[in-house]
Amino acid sequence: MRVPGDKSISHRSIMLGALAVGETRVTGLLEGEDVLATAAAMRAMGATVERLGDGEWRVHGVGVGALLQPQAPLDMGNSGTSTRLLMGLVASHPIDTSFIGDASLSKRPMGRVIDPLSQMGAAFEASNGGRLPLTVRGAMPAVPIEYQLPVASAQVKSAVLLAGLNTPGITTVVEPVPTRDHSERMLRGFGADLTVEEVGGARVIRIRGEAELKPQAIAVPGDPSSAAFFIVAALIVPGSDVLIENVGLNPTRAGIVGVLRQMGGQIEEVNRREVGGEPVADLLVRHSALKGIEVDPDVVPSMVDEFPALFVAASMAQGTTVTTGLDELRVKESDRITAMADALSAAGARVRETENGLTIEGTGGEPLSGTSGPITTHLDHRIAMSMAIAGLVSRNGVEVDDTRPIATSFPVFETLLDGLHA
Ligand code: S3P
Repeated sequence: MRVPGDKSISHRSIMLGALAVGETRVTGLLEGEDVLATAAAMRAMGATVERLGDGEWRVHGVGVGALLQPQAPLDMGNSGTSTRLLMGLVASHPIDTSFIGDASLSKRPMGRVIDPLSQMGAAFEASNGGRLPLTVRGAMPAVPIEYQLPVASAQVKSAVLLAGLNTPGITTVVEPVPTRDHSERMLRGFGADLTVEEVGGARVIRIRGEAELKPQAIAVPGDPSSAAFFIVAALIVPGSDVLIENVGLNPTRAGIVGVLRQMGGQIEEVNRREVGGEPVADLLVRHSALKGIEVDPDVVPSMVDEFPALFVAASMAQGTTVTTGLDELRVKESDRITAMADALSAAGARVRETENGLTIEGTGGEPLSGTSGPITTHLDHRIAMSMAIAGLVSRNGVEVDDTRPIATSFPVFETLLDGLHA
């Protein structure tokens, strides 16, 4: 099987393409609702963004500094990445931009990007608690800052770097814990003057502003976060032997593979190569007797989106799995600690919620009972997909209240699952 393109990389390819004068070509783009929201926003700000075929897109950019004021609020749907990265982009353009989103996105904290972008000179009018709907008045010129990330967040890092693109001088982000580095890789690929230096364990990222980006041809690798559901499915469903092709294995994203191997998962990498400046391999995954482990909190940033899937694997392992340091999971599309504790418990797993994690007593391979009513997904695609996988190893099946959010990141999930299951 093959999973669709990486969501993080897809967003960034449209955004940077929209800032580079000339034609950027993207192949393997994820055509999920989140990325389509980014595409619509860049169109509303003057770029030409066109679909040529399956995953094949063409972008004609306006140039850094030349984004137009959108005529209506930008509807970001469910997408935190679109919202936070675009807030950064518009913060250093002389335009006013309003952002709106769905009920899930409207609960999520935006103060984490409002703080540094205000320091750069942008002005914000946000709803209570720094939430959507909000309006940004961009600064022209913006002021370069040196900003130390208070939370491990690639979205905050990227928002500041993207604002730095149209800011005179050098904008610096200091990252005490490394997070996904797709922005850094792609900004460099588009010709931005960006350096990364290790200083006393921290990553210091500097970008020179008033940049001129050069259009690129980008091949988007498969999304490891989407692959994770099928990796877990193959590990826990007896008899499975699945080859997942073209999975992105950037070390800042691939934490789940290491953790599942530590639990005894047989995951083999074949045909290691590079796609679009990112390491990629095909993964051969076989049903395995998993054992519970204590997950090192240091790996959390490299698998921050994969914990819901990991919890399902832990429910089927022999022994106890302990996860800690997951505070950021509480501010994703839903509170994923509580949502998964409730959903897995309803499906018969033995789960205990702690302040910043879950402790799960696995069945040792015995099937879960399954649910006797629908579990609540809270507009969170990853809760819906994780519980679908849990359904594969349950006696009565798992009922999910709402599968529509799956289309935000993985529109072909159900088709692939049906195909594999058949
Ligand atoms: C993303 C960063 C992560 C991740 C999200 C995508 C990105 O969010 O959860 O799905 O593309 O930069 P945080 O920066 O909030 O950790």
